[in-house]
Amino acid sequence: MNVLEQLRRAFVAATPEGGDPAAFALAVRPSTDPKFGDYQANGCMAIAKAAKKNPRELALEVAKVVDLAPMAGPPEVAGPGFLNVRLSDDWIARQLGDLLVDEKLGLSFPEHPKTVVVDYSSPNVAKPMHVGHLRSTVIGESLARIYSALGHKVIRDNHLGDWGSQFGMILWGWKNHRDEAAYAANPVAELARLYKLAQARIKPGETLRERYGKAISLDEAGKSAEARALFAKLAEGTTDTFEDVARKIAEARDVADATRAETVKLHAGDYENRVLWDQFMPHCLAALQAVYDRLDIKHDVHLGESFYDPMLADVVKDLETRGLAVESEGATVVFSEGFKAPFIVRKRDGAYNYATTDLATIQYRKATWDPDLLLYVVDHRQGDHFKQLFAVAKRWGYDGIAMEHVAFGTVLGQDRRPYKTRDGDVVGLESLLDEAIAEARKVVDENSAHLPEGQRRHVAEVVGLGAIKYADLSQNRMSDYVFDMARMVALSGNTATYLQYAYARIQSIFRKAETTPEAIRAARPPIALSNPAERALAVRVLRYPETLEFAAGELKPNILTDYLFDLANAYSTFYQECPVIKAESPERRDGRLALIDLTARTLRAGLSALGIGVVDEM
Ligand code: ARG
Repeated sequence: MNVLEQLRRAFVAATPEGGDPAAFALAVRPSTDPKFGDYQANGCMAIAKAAKKNPRELALEVAKVVDLAPMAGPPEVAGPGFLNVRLSDDWIARQLGDLLVDEKLGLSFPEHPKTVVVDYSSPNVAKPMHVGHLRSTVIGESLARIYSALGHKVIRDNHLGDWGSQFGMILWGWKNHRDEAAYAANPVAELARLYKLAQARIKPGETLRERYGKAISLDEAGKSAEARALFAKLAEGTTDTFEDVARKIAEARDVADATRAETVKLHAGDYENRVLWDQFMPHCLAALQAVYDRLDIKHDVHLGESFYDPMLADVVKDLETRGLAVESEGATVVFSEGFKAPFIVRKRDGAYNYATTDLATIQYRKATWDPDLLLYVVDHRQGDHFKQLFAVAKRWGYDGIAMEHVAFGTVLGQDRRPYKTRDGDVVGLESLLDEAIAEARKVVDENSAHLPEGQRRHVAEVVGLGAIKYADLSQNRMSDYVFDMARMVALSGNTATYLQYAYARIQSIFRKAETTPEAIRAARPPIALSNPAERALAVRVLRYPETLEFAAGELKPNILTDYLFDLANAYSTFYQECPVIKAESPERRDGRLALIDLTARTLRAGLSALGIGVVDEM
């Protein structure tokens, strides 16, 4: 049961005259301090202010009429007009008794489940996955799990970048610089090398274009001091003369043109390029899959950009027919109110682009799954693209679908700059996972030397991967965060390790008590709440459903991590103050075992909704 929602319903029915029931309901929240009860209704102040009434008197009136039975007695009026709700101990105990045999831990599935498409991970293939891909992958997976835990229908879609300009670079690299032996040994590494090579060749020209808005000739360089300085900069650390730099810039332009031409040929159905694409793709996908397998991520569909290619011409035609798309400076674009630049759906050279593909994707998703909600878990830098995409899609007739850009910030290194290796490369995701597992292994060796080798390896794996995911998910996703491996696997603090440890400790109590959770659940012993630490833990357990729903509504896994951390802290206090095995009577012992079983199950379910596992011993 969602306790918060039940209370809100009760308060809505008691909204004072002139108040907005929805706002009055929203002002009911969990209390931050147990002094003020378990929940607080703070809506009287606003209503009193608007109606020029005394807030305290208004609160007293609400307290008299609001019917919180059987959850709680009348609320207590405090301060200037707060209403403090204290849940009844009997009611809590009864709820816990029900939860003991409820596999869903109090979640009730909606009568009309939503269909939610989560577009996440979606890397540009043919480059190894790097730390930048971590956030979309981990946040998207968690949101998918949260929504399915709540009983919604979720489609996990990996919108791969498998059709873009990077393939032109690889095709160019392949045709001019391939190393067949290297490709045979490790195809993805060789493709990545070719991609990087193309990029490195193109770079000098890009640098110039960024600064001048155009490439610059040696002639011009001779005349402009600024260009001279730039040439000098490009030559820095090399023995290049001005002539060499000029030659490289000219070459950069040629390479850029050549790679573009390869992309155009691929899109136009060129036989050779298409054959190569078909040959490269399985290797690229296998490399991605290896990372997904390690992270325990299973997309339902991998519908990359290439999948939509055959639909793009019709999309643009349809937009034109409806008068949405118009010609502008040779390109086909859609203007939307409130945007400076138009949404380009066909470039001047006739090519369709990222925007066209995303429109086709919405059309396809609607026709295939008829979704209620589309979530795009993508870097915040694409914010403008999605705003415009949604605006165009709504006018195109898809206004019945809710669409959200689930944006996130950057992963930073200790130096607070985007996380890079020492030689300036972005950090590969695989090596990062290895590093986390190695770091976790240190913690395991230190704390659990008694475990056999095989088990320690397994624990390090679960802890290491959990650490990486949790560090990411426990941030407000919009903020950047600093990647700090040692802190991520620490046994104390807001880490997955701390929560996993609390879970394992509970399992060890069961082993010591020589009973099993199953036996306790079957016995359904009464759960007494005489100790405040016991009660505090019980109330936390009851808050799982409302927390999960809140996290889903806000699209913020960190709401769930905060809750789990709070739960584990409440457990820790309980553990210090309430003996379990040495409880004063067998009945109390069993009641406490029931409470910690519920705690462990909630920790496990919550971590699972984050994509994180647990172990019974660590
Ligand atoms: N491949 C894109 C990138 O790496 C992300 C795609 C996100 N999904 C989408 N439907 N646009 O930037």
